[in-house]
Parts: sequence; structure tokens; C-alpha cells
Amino acid sequence: ATKSELPIDPLRIVAKEMKHLTGNIRQLLGSGHPSLDRVAKYYTQSEGKHVRPLIVLLMSRATSLCPKAPESPAPQTLVAIDSSISPLNVLADANPSSPHADFSSQPGSESDVLPSQRRLAEITELIHTASLLHDDVIDHSVSRRGSPSANFEFGNKMAVLAGDFLLGRASVALARLRNAEVVELLATVIANLVEGEFMQLKNTARDERNPQWSEEIFTYYLQKTYLKTASLISKSCRAAALLGRADAPTVESAYSYGKNLGLAFQLVDDMLDYTKSGSDLGKPAGADLELGLATAPLLFAWKSTPELGILVGRKFGQEGDVQRARELVYQSDGIEQTRALAEDYSQQAIAALNNFPDSEAKDGLIEMAMNTLKRQK
Ligand code: FPP
Ligand code: MG
Ligand code: MG
Repeated sequence: ATKSELPIDPLRIVAKEMKHLTGNIRQLLGSGHPSLDRVAKYYTQSEGKHVRPLIVLLMSRATSLCPKAPESPAPQTLVAIDSSISPLNVLADANPSSPHADFSSQPGSESDVLPSQRRLAEITELIHTASLLHDDVIDHSVSRRGSPSANFEFGNKMAVLAGDFLLGRASVALARLRNAEVVELLATVIANLVEGEFMQLKNTARDERNPQWSEEIFTYYLQKTYLKTASLISKSCRAAALLGRADAPTVESAYSYGKNLGLAFQLVDDMLDYTKSGSDLGKPAGADLELGLATAPLLFAWKSTPELGILVGRKFGQEGDVQRARELVYQSDGIEQTRALAEDYSQQAIAALNNFPDSEAKDGLIEMAMNTLKRQK
């Protein structure tokens, strides 16, 4: 087969950079306290999809070919960091002298992904995993990635504290990148995750017993979706471009790609919650209605089925509500419309890459956007 007929595998394109991801993350999570060490590393045992690091690494490679910001080259000694942080002892000061060797000028480092960008990929996975630890407590979830959830295995207290520990270690690694703008971006992501989760505690901006469908409700849902999912992906794409000293238009394109991909990704997630079984997903299915959450499939259904308003108003809390709401969603075109909107965002993500020079990494990013629509879990 000719090259163009070969299927594009995003993972293969950054396989070299992904190889040490889990090992490095586990090293960042070392604690002298054996049970904290165990809980903190728990979600690194089951292989997650590593969607966020994959996107960061592909974006790093793709933007390495784009125009640079005028003030470059910046002193790489401040950006590159040691990829092997010493295992931190719980009893020692968790702030050993920060190593930041100049990797970029070493012979044999021919990769177009900088050490700082590789570290950024690890940091995004750490923040994401921290949010899952907390999320499973909030959602009373008993399974994750096909295994018992951390809260189920170790209890809520340890799961919450482990999540906090991950955020702490992510912050240490972030600070060591020595890039204030990147620190600010990722710190904002952490705040955004909480804001999104808070918005989700309420389905609408106002508390009403029998709310009427409105555009405003859908806007609220999209804003929440940006905060809880797209913020991490978009701001880490932006950070990857910044670490690579890309020029301002490239940084904006990277951000736009991540934002649109993130929105598509969560819309598909919300759709799969209706269309897949728990064993397909490796986590409870149909969980959103049970949690009182009105996501895109239901919001689209509600537009043409006003009786859903009363169920939304009481968060599907009465006997039979979840069942009834599910029926009404299946009878409507809510799932189809959700898929169509996800497709829209996915295409916008791809369009954001228009000005990037052709490359394998760019093809990988395009493939990621298309795979988001096809994914089954
Ligand atoms: C998964 O959503 C959860 C998130 C995308 C973010 C959760 C954020 C928090 C709990 C805020 C606080 C946490 C931190 C670390 C700042 P989901 O429940 O829809 O997905 P699921 O089906 O995978 O559980
Ligand atoms: Mg959840
Ligand atoms: Mg949740």
C-alpha cells in the first residue's frame, strides 16, 4: 500500500514520547507514606485512553513547524526540565532543588517535542486523573476504567485526599517549567474544573419547579461543558504552543482546536451515557439521569417535548422519572442532534488547523478529531 492508504494512528506518531508517560507520572506521585503512594497511583495502573497527553504531544509536534514568536529564541535552560524528578519522600521537604538542565542542546535529542512539552503532557494527565478521583466521589461511582473506583476501593476520604495530592504534585511539576503564562493557564484549568462541576450541580441557572426550554439553558450547558472538559484540553494545547515559542496566531489556533475538540469529546461522552452499556464503557452507564443531570440528548429532546420540563425541575427524583425521561429521549431525535452538534465541533477543530503546515502530527490531530465521533467508550 502507498503511504496515503495507510490508516493514521495518532498514538504511533508520538509513541516515542508516550512511552515513558505512565512511568514518569508514577514517579511524580511517589510518596513515602505507603498507603498514600498506593491510592495516588491507583488510577495509573489501569490504562486510561491518555487522550489529553496524546493531544498535547501531537500539538507540540504540529506547532514545532509553525512560525515562531518574534522574541524567540528564549533561553531554553529555563524551559527544559529534568525528566526524572527524584522520588519525593513524605518526610522530606517536598521541594528539592529544581533541576532544569538544558536538554534541547544535547546531542541525540532530535525529537521535535521539547522536554517541557512532554512534562506538560504528564501534568494534563495528572490534573485529569485528580478530577476523576474527585468526580467518582461526587458521583458515587463504583467503577472506573473497568475496575473498582478509588472511592469504592479506599473510601471517600482517601480518594479526595489522593486527588488533592495529585494536584499538589502537578503544581510542583508545573512550577518547574519556569513559564508563568503556562502556570497561569493550568492553574485556571483547575479552577475551571471546579466551576464546571459547580454549574453541573444545577441543571439551569435558576431553580424552578417547572422550567421552560430556552436557548439560555442550552448556553448554560455548553458553558458548563467548556469548563468541565474543554478547558483542560484547550488551555493545554495553548500551553504546548507557548512552550514551543509559537507565534500568536498559532497559539490561538492551538487553543481553538482544543476547545472545539473538547466540546465534541464531552458531547459524545454525554451521548454514550445513553447509548452504551456499563460493560462497554467500563463505568456506570445511564448515570447522568440517575444523578439528576440533563445533558445534550435530553436538552434537545426537551425542546420538542415540553413535558420533560417538570422532570428536569425535580431532577428526575420521583419514582419512574428516570425511566420516563429516558423513553422520551429515545423517542426524540435528541441523540441524533447531539451527534450532529459533536460533528460540527469536530469539524471546527479540524478547520482551526488550516494554517498549520502539512505534517504527520497535523494528520494525527485531524484523526483525533474524527476518532472522537467514532469512539465507543
Ligand atoms: C468527569 O465527568 C469529570 C470531569 C470532567 C471533571 C470533574 C471535576 C471536578 C470533580 C472538580 C474538582 C476536581 C479537581 C481535581 C479540580 P463525568 O462525571 O460526566 O464523567 P464520567 O462518566 O467519566 O464519570
Ligand atoms: Mg462521573
Ligand atoms: Mg461527574
